Amino acid sequence: MRTVIYPGSFDPITNGHLDVIQRASRMFDRVVVAIARNGGKQPLFTPAERKGLIEQSIDGLGNVSVDVFEGLLVEYVEQQSGHAVIRGLRALSDFEYEFQMALMNRKLDENIETLFMMPRASYSFLSSHLVKEIATLGGDVSAFVTPEVRAALTERLGQAGAN
Ligand code: PNS
Repeated sequence: MRTVIYPGSFDPITNGHLDVIQRASRMFDRVVVAIARNGGKQPLFTPAERKGLIEQSIDGLGNVSVDVFEGLLVEYVEQQSGHAVIRGLRALSDFEYEFQMALMNRKLDENIETLFMMPRASYSFLSSHLVKEIATLGGDVSAFVTPEVRAALTERLGQAGAN
């Protein structure tokens, strides 16, 4: 049973994240999407809200579950008997941060590998941060997130996000 952990803030989940989850679910027996409770950022959605939105989006992927974790990622991976961590890599600009994090996690636990997966090219510019900014300013985010996430953004940000 090969278990992979896909950690992140997922505030909120985008179609780019979903693309990575679908790819990972074909490669591993079990995929745990792990929402970091203390991401060090000021999130728009609570961990429970983010979990609910991901669960709605992964309907039909039987080997994928969603969880919230606190503390060090390597400790959580160990606790889940995980074999690896998956991270999405969109562009060269992601590389430095991801490289640093992967090597730091390896320093903390030699047994945990980080694997990078590239989402579909059409999602290479997509980020939760930009989706929130566009929604805040009244732009249309329907090409970037599921209808449920779009509705949640509209509700949280007010009518501006409904356009
Ligand atoms: O989606 P993000 O914000 O890029 O995800 C970053 C995340 C949550 C994967 C990272 O901040 C993390 O692993 N946090 C848990 C705490 C931890 O282990 N920090 C040390 C990382 S080297």
